[in-house]
Amino acid sequence: MFLRQVGTSLVVDAPAKLNLFLRIVRRREDGYHDIDTVMTAINLHDTLEFHPTHDAGIHLSVELAVSPETGVAAGTIPLGSENLVIRAAELLRKTAGISTGAQIRLIKRIPSAAGMGGGSSDAAATLLGLNALWGIELDRQRLQGLAAQLGSDVAFFLGGSATARCTGRGEILEPLKLPAILHFVVARPAAGLSTPLVYRHCQPDTQGFSPEGLIAALAQGRVTHAAQCLHNGLQAPAESLSDAIRRVRETFDRLPVLGHQLSGSGTAYFGVCHTRGQALRIAGQLRSAGYPWVFVTRSCM
Ligand code: C5P
Repeated sequence: MFLRQVGTSLVVDAPAKLNLFLRIVRRREDGYHDIDTVMTAINLHDTLEFHPTHDAGIHLSVELAVSPETGVAAGTIPLGSENLVIRAAELLRKTAGISTGAQIRLIKRIPSAAGMGGGSSDAAATLLGLNALWGIELDRQRLQGLAAQLGSDVAFFLGGSATARCTGRGEILEPLKLPAILHFVVARPAAGLSTPLVYRHCQPDTQGFSPEGLIAALAQGRVTHAAQCLHNGLQAPAESLSDAIRRVRETFDRLPVLGHQLSGSGTAYFGVCHTRGQALRIAGQLRSAGYPWVFVTRSCM
C-alpha cells in the first residue's frame, strides 16, 4: 500500500485479499477466534483520496466504480460512523489529540460482505493517508496498534507484505515470499454474508489442518500443489448459512480449476487457474451461469 501525492491531496490504492488457508484454532473468551490464515493481496483495489479541509469534519463520499468487466461492486456501503474509514479517521484523530478535518473520496471496486477485506483495506489506507495528510507521523508500529483495534484484517493490509501468514485474531503477521504469480477467477453470488454470523457457526479445527504444506509449495513456486493445499474452516458454516455458497462450490467442482474455495467468511469464491487465459475462459462460463460479479485477478508481488 503506497501513498501518491496529487496536488495538495494524497491517494492510496487499497487492495482486496483472498484467504488461501484459514484454520479456526480456538474460540476465545473475548468472543473472537484464534485463527491461522494465509492471505494474499490481489490486483483489485479501492482508491481513496484524502483532501485537506478548513473545517473539523470528516466528510466521506463513496462512488461505486462501474467496470465493463464486472459491473458495479456488489453490496451496500455505510456512510456513517459504522464505516471503517470514518472509524479509522476518528481513532487516528483521538490518538493524536487533534481536531483537523478531511474530505475523503472512496472509489469502491471491492464488493462488500465478500470476505475480500475491502472495508479493512480501506481502513488501513485511511490510517496511512491521514497520518501523512495531517502530519502526525505515527510510526508503523503505532499504526499497527490502531489497525488491530479497528479489525482483525486491518494489520495485514497495513503490513506491507502482499502475502502473509496471520495468526492470533489475524493481526499477528509473518510475511511470506510468493515467487510465482497465482491466477484467480473470483465469483461473488448476489447475496453477501455477515462475518460475525459465520464465525458464530464455526467449529474449531480438531483435525490438525496446517498451512505448512501450502507455504512450502508457494515458496517453491509449485502452484498446482499449492492449489491442492487450500483450506478454509469457515466454508462449512458459510455453506450451512447460504445455499448460494453451496451452489457456487458445486459450480466450481465442475470447472477445470487447480483448486477452489471460499475467501474468508464469504461470499466471494475463487478458483486457482493455470494461466490468466484459463481464468478468463472460466470467467466467461461463470457469467453465462448467471453470477452477477465475476473477476479475473492475480496475486500481487
Ligand atoms: O475483527 P473484525 O471486526 O473484522 O471481526 C468481525 C467479527 O468477526 C468479530 O466481531 C467476530 O465476531 C468475528 N471474528 C472472530 N474471530 C476472528 C475475526 C473475526 O470471531 N479472528
